[in-house]
Amino acid sequence: MLELFPLAVARVQLQPDPLDSARLFQQVLHWRGDSIGNPLEGCAWTGDLHGVHQVHRSPDAAWLLAQLRLQVGKYLEDLGFREGGVAVHIQRSWPVVSEPGQLVGRHHHPNAHISAVYHLNGDGSGRCGALRLFNPMALNELVPGMAVGSQGPLRPDARLNAAHHDIPALAGQLLLFPARLDHGVLENSSEEVRLSIAFDLVLSAPAGPCSTEYLPPHPSLWDPLSENGGLMP
Ligand SMILES: [Fe+2]
Repeated sequence: MLELFPLAVARVQLQPDPLDSARLFQQVLHWRGDSIGNPLEGCAWTGDLHGVHQVHRSPDAAWLLAQLRLQVGKYLEDLGFREGGVAVHIQRSWPVVSEPGQLVGRHHHPNAHISAVYHLNGDGSGRCGALRLFNPMALNELVPGMAVGSQGPLRPDARLNAAHHDIPALAGQLLLFPARLDHGVLENSSEEVRLSIAFDLVLSAPAGPCSTEYLPPHPSLWDPLSENGGLMP
């Protein structure tokens, strides 16, 4: 059997200084403050909905940024991008704090191109949650919809028809994947709070007069259309 067109997910185990990790861990809890979740019942606290979306500008995250830079470069290289072919910007980055019983529902990031997640804790068992990546195009089910619902003809363990793949939270683990891929975080079934940091990364053409078809021009070339910071109508 030929298995064609794989989805590429970078999974890297970082080895951060324990003191750096502890400092960022405490900073994330400080950012969250007294909040315990998002407005949606059962959803973890995600900083992007609470004004905490620039973790990348925090000195406590500088070591993580250095690692992210390195690993995104490797990821792009592995995917076949030419050296210097694109500029990458961090559009936003935010902590996610999941109390026992909380989760993050299925979603994707249409505003970005690469999603990155860094796990500040987790033992790899999946008890405190796992990143669930959904099959973006289930061509192998042959008849659309066969992989969902009950009493269908497909065995639930059919590897070539997996509806999703789960990656358990693991302290120090950095994951990179296409931002338009649907994903979510499974319920934290442990007694401990689970912490992670998410990043939205955007690819553009390199700075300069040249533009590339289909790539957004470099953000330094963007101008607001209105004098009111672009606000319209
Ligand atoms: Fe996400």
